[in-house]
Amino acid sequence: MTSIFEIDPDITRAGTLHSDFYTDPEYFALSKERIFARTWHFLGRARDFEGVRPVTLLPGILDDPLMLVKTVDSLHCMSNVCTHRGKLLIEEACRPDLIRCGYHGRRFSLDGKFMSMPEFEGATDFPSAADDLPHIPLAVRLGFIFGSANPIASFDEYIADASGALSGIKIVPGGLRLTATREYEINAHWALYCENYLEGFHIPYVHRGLNAVVDYGTYSTETFRYSSVQTGFGSDGTVAARYLFVFPNLMFNFYPWGVSVNVVRPVSPDSSVIEFLTYVSDDSLIDQGAGADLHSVEMEDEAVVESVQKGIRSRYYSQGRYSPNREQGTHHFHRLIAEFMSR
Ligand code: FES
Ligand SMILES: [Fe+2]
Repeated sequence: MTSIFEIDPDITRAGTLHSDFYTDPEYFALSKERIFARTWHFLGRARDFEGVRPVTLLPGILDDPLMLVKTVDSLHCMSNVCTHRGKLLIEEACRPDLIRCGYHGRRFSLDGKFMSMPEFEGATDFPSAADDLPHIPLAVRLGFIFGSANPIASFDEYIADASGALSGIKIVPGGLRLTATREYEINAHWALYCENYLEGFHIPYVHRGLNAVVDYGTYSTETFRYSSVQTGFGSDGTVAARYLFVFPNLMFNFYPWGVSVNVVRPVSPDSSVIEFLTYVSDDSLIDQGAGADLHSVEMEDEAVVESVQKGIRSRYYSQGRYSPNREQGTHHFHRLIAEFMSR
């Protein structure tokens, strides 16, 4: 049996990702380690919290209890599990001077170093490095924090090749304010949501409002090693929106007013949650152009993606073909899924 994870690099010949990937619960389970544990996840912004707070890399998928620790001069992400017998250390956001386990009193400094433990006189080879809290790889860009369980590449390597495509974007990290968060539940596999995001092909058919402000003819897609950038120009030739996708599930949508961040969170093979975080730098532009009325665009996308979810279960559908001019982003995404799933 040939693998379903072979996508021809030549888009003119390639078939799309086989529908089994979306429907088989085994592939969904496998993707946790093969895709999500090796990639980078969004952990919010350093300026939006103080002290220590419990986090996970991707709720429901990567649930290891972690904590983010911010001090005056450092930022850490580390295990939130006591190295003695495994109690959770921090249950809610707080601003302690040190971390003390509520079970038997083991203490750690804010950078995770073991400090002290009652009643351990006589224990040999104690303490050792194994008594410190393990650290999780962390990166900060534009004030946004990213963490990974077991990254396939450093964050720099992961997205550096996309930075040229984003160089025209003027974002002052300190000027962005988190003004809204919202979650959408959708009855579809996470990858169906992402691959819809990765092509502008459907804009004239699905998004009437958006189609009026984005010029379909000049809409462009650039693909990089682990990311891609789509650019929509207005009829006057200025950039209406730039859409950065970071594999496998992060979307950074740059508009004249600021950035909308979307995190696609897999829940089951046929349901997902899309988190929307709105970071505004210029309120006066919020109702204009491609970044206006994102809720209506989201409803239009959800309707087609949920329809595809029903379609791919059909015994009469297993895969299709790509438009060589309009679906480079989706082809690239399927190739990455195939690459990660076959390692
Ligand atoms: S589990 Fe933390 S001190 Fe025992
Ligand atoms: Fe869309």
